Amino acid sequence: MCGITGYIGYRDAYPIVINGLKRLEYRGYDSAGIMMYDGDVMHLSKTKGKVSDLEVITNKEEIRKEGRIGIGHTRWATHGVPNDTNSHPHFSQSGNLVIVHNGIIENYDTIKKELISRGYEFQSDTDTEVLVNLIEEVKKTEGCKLGKAVQLALTQVIGAYAIAVFDKSKPNELVVARLGSPIAIGVGNENKEFFVASDASPFIEYTKNAIYLEDGELAIIKKDKGIKVRKIDNDKLVDANIQELQLSLEQIEKGGYDHFMLKEIYEQPKAIIDTYRGRMLPDEGIIKMAGVDDNISKFLNADRIIIVACGTSWHAGLVGEYLFEDMARIPVEVEYASEFRYRNPIITEKDVVIAISQSGETADTLAAIKLAKSKGAFVFGVCNVVGSSIARETHAGAYTHAGPEIGVASTKAFTTQITVLSLIALKLAKKRGTLSQTAFQQYLQTMQLIPNQVEQLLKIDKQVEEIAAVYKDAKNCLYLGRGFNFPVALEGALKLKEISYIHAEGYPAAEMKHGPIALIDENMPVFVIATKRGHYEKVVSNIQEIKSRSGKIIAIVTEGDETVKEIADHTIEIPETEEALTPLLTTIPLQLLSYHIAVMLGKNVDQPRNLAKSVTVE
Ligand code: G6P
Repeated sequence: MCGITGYIGYRDAYPIVINGLKRLEYRGYDSAGIMMYDGDVMHLSKTKGKVSDLEVITNKEEIRKEGRIGIGHTRWATHGVPNDTNSHPHFSQSGNLVIVHNGIIENYDTIKKELISRGYEFQSDTDTEVLVNLIEEVKKTEGCKLGKAVQLALTQVIGAYAIAVFDKSKPNELVVARLGSPIAIGVGNENKEFFVASDASPFIEYTKNAIYLEDGELAIIKKDKGIKVRKIDNDKLVDANIQELQLSLEQIEKGGYDHFMLKEIYEQPKAIIDTYRGRMLPDEGIIKMAGVDDNISKFLNADRIIIVACGTSWHAGLVGEYLFEDMARIPVEVEYASEFRYRNPIITEKDVVIAISQSGETADTLAAIKLAKSKGAFVFGVCNVVGSSIARETHAGAYTHAGPEIGVASTKAFTTQITVLSLIALKLAKKRGTLSQTAFQQYLQTMQLIPNQVEQLLKIDKQVEEIAAVYKDAKNCLYLGRGFNFPVALEGALKLKEISYIHAEGYPAAEMKHGPIALIDENMPVFVIATKRGHYEKVVSNIQEIKSRSGKIIAIVTEGDETVKEIADHTIEIPETEEALTPLLTTIPLQLLSYHIAVMLGKNVDQPRNLAKSVTVE
């Protein structure tokens, strides 16, 4: 969480840094700040609030007019409440050093006490101000340059960081480093300018060349001279690998939609095609996935598959459990990465661990991967962000190819993760002989219809909006589903919670009678997924139980359904498909519903309170 940007070169730094912060706001948005160096003075502006609030301030000040060097920050508070003082950048006590930081310094308190005993005073409650003063102290006591001081200081800290540091006495230089939080360096025009950011989006219109620092690396970036990358712990020089970015500006703009979330919901037909293109080959009757093919014996000999993930990705993992067990008959466990990593799990060399993550940066998922690797398991990543930490940390993987997802509430990442998991499950089912070639072929044909069916579903947006208008003032909602659609119920509830702040719970439909049924009265909207082949009769009975207690029923049914239509207050029809693939369809109306309710309630859809898209802290 938190986004950092920086620029050093020959252009005006202000627009680059401030626009970069806007693109990184998905990482955190409770305060923002910028430091511009005009060749003489370091000008600082920072405030509680969003980057637009910062802009109001900088518009009144002169700082944005001058400066070829700048750093900026958009914050998701960890240490210290969101206020002006705790916002980044932070100066060192002498006022010579300035830092922006994404991450957590866990031993900051011990270091702070030590620095206080040496005469340092602190303005903020942040761990970051402690770090910049530690660098200052090391620089003073060791008599070294900025790069070395940063390096030595970092060897004393425990925690996670991506930092950019500037020293007024070295005005042609920026020092950046990472451990656990991402950092990309854009290499600009003839090495005369450099960009720094938490991801490449802030500099995409200036350069396609980027270096992604690895964990434990530090880079000294010198204007006109270039970049030197070193290992923080042993000082070894590292060959910086310049990659060509595939990202385009269009992909990270709203493209006429009111919100990124809506754009991303509407992108799903294309995203699903992009996910299976080149992999699913119905004419040849095969699924090709290099990451699986190259490691097929690991999958085929696995005692079980353990899926680790967080949030929406965890819900996709739950769908994966149903898919793998149903199709390939491999036992699966789905784990919250945050629990898995700390509960001393039993992992063996015969386990295959699948880590699912949109961002590829989630700290808990990353830690779970490292743990599984240390126990000898084969770890496979399902990530969206190319080159992300999880993509690099896993033994092999498959990208979802959903394109950048910027809305904090995940939508197309979810459906593309399910698409990848379906492909892997089908592939393994075929190899293991648990699915006949005919059934396999039937799945491929059916899967090919999904993008058009999603397109068709998006056309009922107006109907969903009308339903949203009826239930927007609800205080609580229940979401029920069974089998493949139980995780969709969880995901539907999560979407509503995240962006509308309405309390919502997802439950397996049959579990309702063991507790949640007590909540049902005429004020309780219950969203029920009742697809034709998904234990239909049982779900219909559950719907009757809700009806008898005066609950409001909004049912998602297969087109042509008559039974539920007679009982429910509202029905939303989805096109017919294989039951195992229904999550790709049933989830769409639930996404739209949450979106419309949040808009009607005037909530900030793309940046819901307290959340962040990329959670790089525990
Ligand atoms: C955050 C996001 C969620 C996301 C979760 C896991 O909480 O707000 O949308 O599902 O992190 O993120 P990942 O990038 O690992 O999928």
